[in-house]
Amino acid sequence: MQRPTDSNVTPFPGNLAAPVFAESQAYGLQPGTTPLLAELTETMQSAVDRCPGFGAAAAAKSALRGYVCEPALLDTCHKEGDPKHYRRHLLYADPEGALSIIAVVWMPGQVTPIHGHTAWGAIGVYEGSPFCENFDRYQNDQEAIGLRSKMKLLLKPGDLATVRPGIDDLHRVGNDTPSRAISIHAYGRDLLADPRSLNIVFDS
Ligand SMILES: [Fe+2]
Repeated sequence: MQRPTDSNVTPFPGNLAAPVFAESQAYGLQPGTTPLLAELTETMQSAVDRCPGFGAAAAAKSALRGYVCEPALLDTCHKEGDPKHYRRHLLYADPEGALSIIAVVWMPGQVTPIHGHTAWGAIGVYEGSPFCENFDRYQNDQEAIGLRSKMKLLLKPGDLATVRPGIDDLHRVGNDTPSRAISIHAYGRDLLADPRSLNIVFDS
Protein backbone atom coordinates (compact mmCIF):
# COMPACT_ATOMS: atom_id res chain seq x y z
CA MET A 1 0.00 0.00 0.00
CA GLN A 2 1.29 3.47 -0.93
CA ARG A 3 1.57 6.16 1.67
CA PRO A 4 -1.68 8.21 1.46
CA THR A 5 -1.34 11.80 0.29
CA ASP A 6 -4.83 13.27 0.68
CA SER A 7 -5.42 16.15 3.07
CA ASN A 8 -7.24 14.02 5.65
CA VAL A 9 -4.10 12.14 6.60
CA THR A 10 -2.22 13.23 9.71
CA PRO A 11 1.37 12.15 10.39
CA PHE A 12 1.70 9.30 12.88
CA PRO A 13 4.39 10.54 15.26
CA GLY A 14 3.65 8.07 18.03
CA ASN A 15 3.54 10.92 20.54
CA LEU A 16 2.14 9.41 23.71
CA ALA A 17 2.19 12.61 25.79
CA ALA A 18 -1.18 13.52 27.29
CA PRO A 19 -2.66 16.92 28.12
CA VAL A 20 -3.29 17.97 31.71
CA PHE A 21 -6.66 18.16 33.36
CA ALA A 22 -7.65 21.54 34.73
CA GLU A 23 -8.88 20.78 38.23
CA SER A 24 -8.57 18.31 41.05
CA GLN A 25 -9.97 18.21 44.57
CA ALA A 26 -10.65 15.37 47.00
CA TYR A 27 -12.31 12.08 46.03
CA GLY A 28 -16.09 12.06 45.80
CA LEU A 29 -18.38 14.82 44.58
CA GLN A 30 -16.66 18.11 43.84
CA PRO A 31 -17.50 21.69 44.89
CA GLY A 32 -20.42 23.06 42.87
CA THR A 33 -22.28 19.74 42.65
CA THR A 34 -26.01 20.24 42.02
CA PRO A 35 -28.68 17.92 43.46
CA LEU A 36 -29.28 16.50 39.97
CA LEU A 37 -25.59 15.81 39.44
CA ALA A 38 -25.43 14.06 42.82
CA GLU A 39 -28.37 11.90 41.73
CA LEU A 40 -26.76 11.07 38.38
CA THR A 41 -23.47 10.22 40.07
CA GLU A 42 -25.09 7.85 42.56
CA THR A 43 -27.02 6.17 39.73
CA MET A 44 -23.93 5.84 37.54
CA GLN A 45 -21.62 4.60 40.32
CA SER A 46 -24.13 1.93 41.26
CA ALA A 47 -24.55 0.86 37.62
CA VAL A 48 -20.80 0.77 36.96
CA ASP A 49 -20.16 -1.24 40.13
CA ARG A 50 -22.48 -3.95 38.80
CA CYS A 51 -20.79 -4.13 35.37
CA PRO A 52 -17.11 -5.07 35.18
CA GLY A 53 -15.10 -4.53 32.00
CA PHE A 54 -16.47 -2.79 28.92
CA GLY A 55 -20.02 -3.44 30.14
CA ALA A 56 -19.44 -0.51 32.48
CA ALA A 57 -19.37 1.85 29.47
CA ALA A 58 -22.88 0.83 28.44
CA ALA A 59 -24.01 1.12 32.06
CA ALA A 60 -22.57 4.63 32.36
CA LYS A 61 -24.11 5.63 29.03
CA SER A 62 -27.48 4.34 30.17
CA ALA A 63 -27.15 6.31 33.42
CA LEU A 64 -26.47 9.51 31.46
CA ARG A 65 -29.73 9.15 29.54
CA GLY A 66 -32.40 11.33 31.10
CA TYR A 67 -29.87 13.56 32.89
CA VAL A 68 -27.32 14.75 30.39
CA CYS A 69 -29.16 17.67 28.82
CA GLU A 70 -31.11 18.81 31.88
CA PRO A 71 -30.12 22.47 32.44
CA ALA A 72 -30.09 21.97 36.24
CA LEU A 73 -27.40 19.27 36.00
CA LEU A 74 -24.44 21.67 36.02
CA ASP A 75 -23.61 24.62 38.24
CA THR A 76 -22.34 27.77 36.54
CA CYS A 77 -18.80 27.05 37.78
CA HIS A 78 -18.72 23.82 35.77
CA LYS A 79 -19.72 25.59 32.53
CA GLU A 80 -16.78 27.97 32.48
CA GLY A 81 -14.57 27.74 29.42
CA ASP A 82 -10.99 28.82 28.85
CA PRO A 83 -10.12 31.10 25.93
CA LYS A 84 -6.80 29.28 25.39
CA HIS A 85 -7.96 25.64 25.17
CA TYR A 86 -10.89 23.35 25.90
CA ARG A 87 -11.42 23.00 29.63
CA ARG A 88 -12.15 19.94 31.75
CA HIS A 89 -13.89 20.19 35.10
CA LEU A 90 -13.67 17.23 37.43
CA LEU A 91 -17.21 16.50 38.72
CA TYR A 92 -16.71 13.23 40.57
CA ALA A 93 -13.88 10.85 41.43
CA ASP A 94 -14.75 7.39 42.74
CA PRO A 95 -12.71 6.72 45.91
CA GLU A 96 -12.14 3.17 44.58
CA GLY A 97 -10.72 4.56 41.33
CA ALA A 98 -13.18 2.80 39.00
CA LEU A 99 -15.02 5.90 37.76
CA SER A 100 -14.32 9.56 37.04
CA ILE A 101 -16.88 12.03 35.67
CA ILE A 102 -15.88 15.30 34.03
CA ALA A 103 -17.56 18.17 32.18
CA VAL A 104 -15.70 19.34 29.08
CA VAL A 105 -16.25 22.88 27.80
CA TRP A 106 -15.34 23.79 24.22
CA MET A 107 -15.42 27.41 23.22
CA PRO A 108 -15.80 28.06 19.45
CA GLY A 109 -12.90 26.62 17.46
CA GLN A 110 -11.44 24.47 20.24
CA VAL A 111 -10.67 20.80 19.59
CA THR A 112 -8.90 17.89 21.25
CA PRO A 113 -5.88 16.19 19.71
CA ILE A 114 -6.53 12.93 17.87
CA HIS A 115 -6.41 10.35 20.63
CA GLY A 116 -7.43 7.00 22.01
CA HIS A 117 -8.11 6.14 25.63
CA THR A 118 -6.59 3.81 28.19
CA ALA A 119 -10.03 3.04 29.65
CA TRP A 120 -13.67 2.69 28.63
CA GLY A 121 -15.65 5.92 28.25
CA ALA A 122 -19.24 7.13 28.00
CA ILE A 123 -20.11 10.59 26.66
CA GLY A 124 -23.26 12.68 26.49
CA VAL A 125 -23.87 16.17 25.09
CA TYR A 126 -25.17 18.71 27.60
CA GLU A 127 -25.16 21.92 25.55
CA GLY A 128 -24.42 23.03 22.00
CA SER A 129 -23.24 21.00 19.02
CA PRO A 130 -19.75 19.58 19.39
CA PHE A 131 -18.43 17.26 16.67
CA CYS A 132 -16.81 13.87 16.98
CA GLU A 133 -14.43 12.75 14.20
CA ASN A 134 -13.17 9.18 13.99
CA PHE A 135 -9.91 8.08 12.38
CA ASP A 136 -8.46 4.97 10.77
CA ARG A 137 -4.81 4.02 10.93
CA TYR A 138 -3.06 3.34 7.65
CA GLN A 139 -0.92 0.22 7.58
CA ASN A 140 2.17 -0.47 5.46
CA ASP A 141 3.75 -3.92 5.84
CA GLN A 142 2.11 -4.19 9.27
CA GLU A 143 3.58 -0.85 10.36
CA ALA A 144 1.25 2.04 11.09
CA ILE A 145 2.22 5.15 9.10
CA GLY A 146 -0.71 7.54 9.18
CA LEU A 147 -4.21 8.47 10.24
CA ARG A 148 -7.18 9.18 7.98
CA SER A 149 -10.53 10.73 8.85
CA LYS A 150 -13.31 8.22 8.27
CA MET A 151 -16.38 9.89 9.82
CA LYS A 152 -17.31 13.24 11.36
CA LEU A 153 -20.58 13.59 13.25
CA LEU A 154 -22.19 16.81 14.42
CA LEU A 155 -23.78 16.07 17.78
CA LYS A 156 -26.68 17.67 19.63
CA PRO A 157 -27.84 17.88 23.25
CA GLY A 158 -28.85 14.46 24.54
CA ASP A 159 -26.68 12.48 22.10
CA LEU A 160 -24.78 9.62 23.76
CA ALA A 161 -21.78 7.50 22.80
CA THR A 162 -19.25 5.04 24.23
CA VAL A 163 -15.55 4.62 23.48
CA ARG A 164 -13.42 1.50 23.79
CA PRO A 165 -9.98 1.51 25.33
CA GLY A 166 -7.00 1.19 22.98
CA ILE A 167 -5.74 2.72 19.74
CA ASP A 168 -8.39 1.16 17.48
CA ASP A 169 -10.93 3.80 18.59
CA LEU A 170 -9.12 6.97 17.57
CA HIS A 171 -11.06 10.23 17.54
CA ARG A 172 -11.09 13.90 18.27
CA VAL A 173 -13.89 16.07 19.63
CA GLY A 174 -14.28 19.78 19.08
CA ASN A 175 -16.54 22.71 18.41
CA ASP A 176 -16.92 24.17 14.90
CA THR A 177 -19.90 26.32 15.86
CA PRO A 178 -19.99 29.96 17.05
CA SER A 179 -21.52 28.91 20.41
CA ARG A 180 -20.14 27.18 23.51
CA ALA A 181 -20.48 23.39 23.67
CA ILE A 182 -20.40 21.24 26.82
CA SER A 183 -20.38 17.47 27.22
CA ILE A 184 -20.31 15.08 30.15
CA HIS A 185 -17.73 12.27 30.08
CA ALA A 186 -17.44 9.22 32.33
CA TYR A 187 -14.27 7.08 32.29
CA GLY A 188 -13.19 3.89 34.00
CA ARG A 189 -10.04 5.55 35.27
CA ASP A 190 -8.87 7.37 38.40
CA LEU A 191 -8.28 10.82 36.93
CA LEU A 192 -7.68 12.37 40.35
CA ALA A 193 -4.69 10.13 41.05
CA ASP A 194 -3.25 10.53 37.54
CA PRO A 195 -5.04 13.02 35.27
CA ARG A 196 -2.54 12.42 32.46
CA SER A 197 -3.20 8.69 32.31
CA LEU A 198 -6.34 8.69 30.17
CA ASN A 199 -5.42 9.88 26.69
CA ILE A 200 -3.11 8.28 24.13
CA VAL A 201 -2.40 11.34 21.98
CA PHE A 202 -1.49 11.13 18.28
CA ASP A 203 -1.12 14.81 17.41
CA SER A 204 -1.06 18.14 19.23
FE1 LIG B 1 -11.81 10.94 23.73
